[in-house]
Amino acid sequence: MRVSAAIHRAFEISVIDDRLYAAFIEHMGRAIYSGIYEPGHPEANEHGFRRDVAGLVRDLNIPAIRYPGGNFVSAYNWEDGIGPKEDRPTRLDLAWRSKESNQVGINEFATWAEDLGIDMMLAVNLGSRGISDARNFAEYVSHPSGSYWSDLRRSHGVEQPYNVKMWCLGNEMDGPWQIGHKEAKEYGRLADETAKALRQLTPGAEMIVCGSSNNEMPTYPDWERGVLEECYENVDYISLHNYYGNSSRDTLNFFGKVEETGRYIQAISGVIDFVKAKKRAKNDVHICFDEWNVWYHDREEDSRRWRTWDWPEAPALLEENYTFEDTLFIACLLNEFIRRSDRVKIACIAQLVNVIAPIRAEAGGPAWRQSIYWPYQLASLYGRGRALRVSVDGPTYDCNVADDVAYLDVAATHDTQGGTVTLFIVNRHLTEAADLRMALTGFENAQLAEHQVIEGHDLMTRNGPGKETIAPVPGKGLAVEDGTLGGAIAPLSYHVLRLR
Ligand code: AHR
Repeated sequence: MRVSAAIHRAFEISVIDDRLYAAFIEHMGRAIYSGIYEPGHPEANEHGFRRDVAGLVRDLNIPAIRYPGGNFVSAYNWEDGIGPKEDRPTRLDLAWRSKESNQVGINEFATWAEDLGIDMMLAVNLGSRGISDARNFAEYVSHPSGSYWSDLRRSHGVEQPYNVKMWCLGNEMDGPWQIGHKEAKEYGRLADETAKALRQLTPGAEMIVCGSSNNEMPTYPDWERGVLEECYENVDYISLHNYYGNSSRDTLNFFGKVEETGRYIQAISGVIDFVKAKKRAKNDVHICFDEWNVWYHDREEDSRRWRTWDWPEAPALLEENYTFEDTLFIACLLNEFIRRSDRVKIACIAQLVNVIAPIRAEAGGPAWRQSIYWPYQLASLYGRGRALRVSVDGPTYDCNVADDVAYLDVAATHDTQGGTVTLFIVNRHLTEAADLRMALTGFENAQLAEHQVIEGHDLMTRNGPGKETIAPVPGKGLAVEDGTLGGAIAPLSYHVLRLR
């Protein structure tokens, strides 16, 4: 198939917020315990955190991480995780029917994140608790000294407060499964008042209010309207969540879900604009897509297990093993985030280690990269700077979730400081190569400096410990000549091209 495309130096979508490549980690399954933290493991540091896992995290260049939940946060008592470890209580985690030992709490997690240069995006419990506990937590983490909670933190050996820049006001409060589930108005009021308190204790920190748990919730998108009508002026972001799957084994339809996500982003942008106009507000609210990933391979089986098991501690849970098909899907989804970086400022892959994650850590064994690690890493490393508009003129297809889906999915970024243009290209066609010609207006002198590709795998190929089959390799077959990029792009392939 022939595809003509074009970018233009002056046609920018937006400056990309680095936090488009943020992550999420929850106290659930083996994400924390025997994930990032495993005292006694040969790779454990003096705090019990695994160096091998930290190394894989570091290579992702993650700017921020959402913690400690997720559904977990809605019945979490943050004070259980501070002070001497031997005095910490074991509690029952109502979200995942597990035991929480509290051996990792805010101070341990902050040490891990600080060591990796990652900002914390802390979630407060607005399910079983409310403003008062959120206030105490913020005082503990953010106030310098001279008050009960700040002095308690100092007595725990943490002299300086943490620089918390983002607060998540609860989690998925529209979901009937959530402990403390609420109506939109009720939650919007609580979020508004909690944001007011948190702003006093952490001036300059940004507030993220919960949107719908996904775009199929019966209350979507009225939930967003109802919530924002209560708190618009006091918040900076509204969250979107979505998990994707291909249970029907229809690859093109699966890939088409990226277009559906574009509609989801567009719809919520519309709701934000509506409420802004209605309130005559001056401030902008942006989108924080703070949970996204593929989650379906073992979902039903997992759901059966955890609903009936007998409160195990750090059980294996949601340990999806990702395929090459998932790699291509995630690459396209990240392209969509780049294309919508005018509205989506923060996005968190959910989650980071073991639980629906790009990194796996075997208890007592090695850590390894899943197939989806790579598109996330490549976007995080190179998808910074400014997003450029890309016009693509080529064959399209219709599927259940969307019509007119372009087989060739392209996003472009321009790092004006480094003078580099990066193109992220996925050929979603199952069998046909794309014969691409892309005009590079304003970049006529650019040369192809680097080309990485992931291709040639069966769609169901997976990585495993000691078997990282799916990984980028140097690409070939594409060249830049006289301001035009041209060449063949194999079916079912993912390319990252850096032009300088
Ligand atoms: O990431 C797993 C779970 O998915 C989170 O706890 C919850 O917020 C979402 O439903």
